[in-house]
Amino acid sequence: MENFVYEYPTKVYFGKGAASQHLPGILAACGPNVLLAYGGGSIKKNGVYGELTGILKAAGKTVTEFSGIMSNPTFAKVQEGARLARENKIDLVLAVGGGSVVDCCKIVCAQAVTDEDLWDLEMVQHKAPSASPIPLGAVVTASGTGAEMNGGAVITNEDAKIKGGMFAAAPRFAILDPTYTLSLPRMQVFSGAFDTLSHAMETYFGRSDRDNVSDEVALAVMHSTVVNMRTLLQDLDDYTARSNLMWTSAMAENGILKVGRVTDFECHQMEHQLGAYTDCNHGQGLAMLHPAYYRHIVKDAPEMFTRLGQAVFGVEGAEAAVDALAAFIQECGLPTKLTELRSKVEITPDLLRQVADSVNLLPNGPRQLTHDEVYDIFMECL
Ligand code: NZQ
Ligand code: ZN
Repeated sequence: MENFVYEYPTKVYFGKGAASQHLPGILAACGPNVLLAYGGGSIKKNGVYGELTGILKAAGKTVTEFSGIMSNPTFAKVQEGARLARENKIDLVLAVGGGSVVDCCKIVCAQAVTDEDLWDLEMVQHKAPSASPIPLGAVVTASGTGAEMNGGAVITNEDAKIKGGMFAAAPRFAILDPTYTLSLPRMQVFSGAFDTLSHAMETYFGRSDRDNVSDEVALAVMHSTVVNMRTLLQDLDDYTARSNLMWTSAMAENGILKVGRVTDFECHQMEHQLGAYTDCNHGQGLAMLHPAYYRHIVKDAPEMFTRLGQAVFGVEGAEAAVDALAAFIQECGLPTKLTELRSKVEITPDLLRQVADSVNLLPNGPRQLTHDEVYDIFMECL
């Protein structure tokens, strides 16, 4: 195994009614000023906003709202939140939403306590922020990214056309109530769950020794994710499946699968840059790209693909594993072509060339790609 340091910084409160049961006690132990952060308004329609503002009011908190956090959150939006946090002397940021809200707030918490430009510090100078961030809590309404249990945040710099991973403190606590996810549109349920599957696969396909216990756990997380997604294909509101998917989401990105190993994550690099140029949905972009990427690397890791095929899809052979994954993506109704993605710009070969050339090429997958090969993968998805 690779050397590692492991700790859980986030306390998780899981289950139906978790917010009303646990949030009052958490709030009693923090200062008076809370920044309530959320996205485009789904929490006002499904009752979560009403429930949380009631709890905050009963706790005597002064609440400042930070709304309109978009999917693929931008660094400009981070600055807006940081300004609000500073002006209102915020003691706790409560991020209510999916990965986008949680990620935006992670960087808000770090940006609010420094005058330095965090994009420049982290992405250009490759330094970590030194000041302690404002404490952050997450109330998850869309699972899949696992953002609630790690310190990474994926932020889009629109000027630089880069969607990149920044680092800040992980949330101190996370409320995971599967019933909060019941109002999600069907496509987001499946794209979020596919993101979880992707995280486990991207971790598994990093080069590492073959007897790593983390691989066994990753395969179990993949299998459970697929089984529960299939349950939701039959009954979208199945509480047990929603619960399992909410927890596999956290498991896939809380670091436990990465213990003692290196990871791949090249497909995420491709999707992030596609997102930077097109603003596409993260899980949908991954679903479309994975089979094409895996067809490029299947001969570089045949035993690992075979093992995945057996454990997750019950098929024999490396190529059969990739075929089974592709068939599963279709079964879930996830996009298989670039034309099926929502994009803010027209997707042309010229655009794809620019996207491909901007993708980070990582060294730890079965084989390091070239920019030309990334371009080929995009073109195969047209
Ligand atoms: O904005 P609102 O109105 O809330 O609507 C959101 C949004 O349109 C909606 N939604 C969320 N909860 C809902 C709901 N609609 C109805 N009922 C609910 N209960 O869902 C839409 C998508 O939300 P978003 O947060 O954008 O989705 P997701 O959770 O997939 O997050 C995607 C972002 O996370 C990043 C992605 O790159 C992307 O920017 N990631 C973060 C990671 C991390 N920090 O560890 C890892 C991932 O690989 C990923 O890169
Ligand atoms: Zn992801």
